[in-house]
Amino acid sequence: MLSDSMLAQNTKKLRFSKNDVIGDGFRIYNGDCIDVLQKIPEKSVKLIFADPPYNLQLKQDLYRPNLTRVDGVNDNWDKFSSNDDYDKFTNDWLQAARRVMADDATIWVIGSYHNIFRVGKIMMDLGFWVLNDVQWYKTNPMPNFRGVRFTNATETLIWAKKSENQKKYTFNHQVMKQLNGGKQMTSVWQIPLCTGHERIKNKQGKKAHSTQKPEELLKRVILSSSSEGDLVLDPFSGSGTTCAVAKKLNRPSVGIEKENEYIKISQTRLNNINKNNYQHLRITEPDKKLIPRVSMEQLLLANLLQESQVIYTKNKKHSAVILSDGSIKNGVGRGSIHKIGALIKEAPSCNGWMFWFYESNNELVLLDEKRQLYRSRHGL
Ligand SMILES: C[S@@+](CC[C@H](N)C(=O)[O-])C[C@H]1O[C@@H](n2cnc3c(N)ncnc32)[C@H](O)[C@@H]1O
Repeated sequence: MLSDSMLAQNTKKLRFSKNDVIGDGFRIYNGDCIDVLQKIPEKSVKLIFADPPYNLQLKQDLYRPNLTRVDGVNDNWDKFSSNDDYDKFTNDWLQAARRVMADDATIWVIGSYHNIFRVGKIMMDLGFWVLNDVQWYKTNPMPNFRGVRFTNATETLIWAKKSENQKKYTFNHQVMKQLNGGKQMTSVWQIPLCTGHERIKNKQGKKAHSTQKPEELLKRVILSSSSEGDLVLDPFSGSGTTCAVAKKLNRPSVGIEKENEYIKISQTRLNNINKNNYQHLRITEPDKKLIPRVSMEQLLLANLLQESQVIYTKNKKHSAVILSDGSIKNGVGRGSIHKIGALIKEAPSCNGWMFWFYESNNELVLLDEKRQLYRSRHGL
């Protein structure tokens, strides 16, 4: 892994052009990401967040009913001669990105309906394995001024590992749960567009970057799929949102951006961040080995489960009866919740806490909830 100190030691080697900027825990390279990625050591990055050009193909300016022009995305960096041209570009940068990903790394790619389906197909064709498609639901979307279709209120984030058989990757389930008020976080994230004081403006008071992403979005991406110290990379860093949030969350970062103007904006933004002011954001996943074990038998003794109670699989296709020693029994056999779960799944192992459900008020609730309840009641 290319650590922060390695980045610092290799300052000379890793400075590729005179416009590159290097600061406390970050560096932003000025250039085409496909070229720059080729210079970065193989398998050195733990997490990639990519917000590539949308390929909007805007044919004409868009006006509001009061005839003021909508400040949309009509930048040169978003122009491609054809869909084939865009697909080739997508294929090339994704391949270059995959090379720098460590064996336990994951990648997030965000896009709108204009590009995300093309990007998703190319990712699958290259062998990436999709873990989730997260919907960013914008609570304050731009209206559809002409009223000819629905207000477009979402963007999709594809979260993927390098391949189907990649065994390890980071997912900080407990951190996300904590961020979501104690409930499992779903793949729909309600976050407003980047407005107000967070939006960087130029000297004329206009948006400094047309597609600056909200920091809350990056906070979830980085907190969910990396740990402090992991190297985060953004091949289309724009106004530097990813590197800014990575700095706040104590992750070293590398940004790549082809427009020098945005590099300067990012440099000022990042240098103004004092890491010490953001310690409260750095929620960490509890070390599983330190979490006290709880057995089915303990849950029976605590009256949280009952002998002869029936538990079910998710779709109620299978059920089992709880026995007095905490084991379970059904047509498949008798044993622990894990063993019987594995036999049903025909898999080498199974986490029974996440596989079995109990019934409460006509709803199925994950067995793990009982374990959590026991832990919280006993101050564990
Ligand atoms: C959608 S914007 C990213 C915005 C960024 N997430 C933010 O919050 O500011 C895409 C950025 O990629 C840059 N870009 C486009 N093509 C590029 C390429 N081939 N290599 C590097 N940067 C590129 C554009 O200049 C633009 O700033």
